[in-house]
Amino acid sequence: MSLRLNDIAPDFQAETTQGVIHFHDWIGDGWAILFSHPKDFTPVCTTELGYMAKLAPEFQKRNCKVVGLSVDPVESHFKWEKDIEETQGYPVTYPMIGDPTLAIAKLYDMLPAEEPGTSEGRTAATNQTVRSVFVVGPDKKIKLQLTYPMTTGRNFYELLRVLDSMQLTAEHRVATPANWADGEDVIIVPAVSDAEAKEKYPDGWKTIKPYLRIIPQPGKN
Ligand code: BEZ
Repeated sequence: MSLRLNDIAPDFQAETTQGVIHFHDWIGDGWAILFSHPKDFTPVCTTELGYMAKLAPEFQKRNCKVVGLSVDPVESHFKWEKDIEETQGYPVTYPMIGDPTLAIAKLYDMLPAEEPGTSEGRTAATNQTVRSVFVVGPDKKIKLQLTYPMTTGRNFYELLRVLDSMQLTAEHRVATPANWADGEDVIIVPAVSDAEAKEKYPDGWKTIKPYLRIIPQPGKN
């Protein structure tokens, strides 16, 4: 069965480049991103893992841990990490899961269930479905999932933007409009009544329509 938003992220134990992790325990009280790539030593993946390494302090600021995954073994990740740092200029400071049995890739629907049991003999082309992102909240529920095609590197700033939006929603009960960027106006969620909003946002709001109520981003002056 496929995973949906607000499902509990399946828990697992895995070998990583930073030792064994138990996923839920490793997440702790914060947020987490589990992102997968098709294969070590491939060009787009090398740029992606390098970019995630560059932005690692930004994710840390947002109390969000990051873990990568591919069906390659950890020994391969160790070798590839050197290429990533050499070519992209940033050391990979987050753990990378080795998943040669495909157990986690299958648990997260990153591969069709009828794929062979192991990664042996697989090529980037046979791993076509494996460029996924899962954002998991402190409640261990899936907050976002993305699946990208093999030939399109992901936009890691978009992950920061979505994290900012979701964290604002969790803290202030606001939503963010199309193409919102940090610092721009936000929307009071429909579940907050006008009476509640008066208490929560004493400076008031702009009503475009009764269902479209705008306030400046909380916490930004
Ligand atoms: C890449 O990561 O560069 C890649 C992987 C598989 C197919 C095409 C590109």
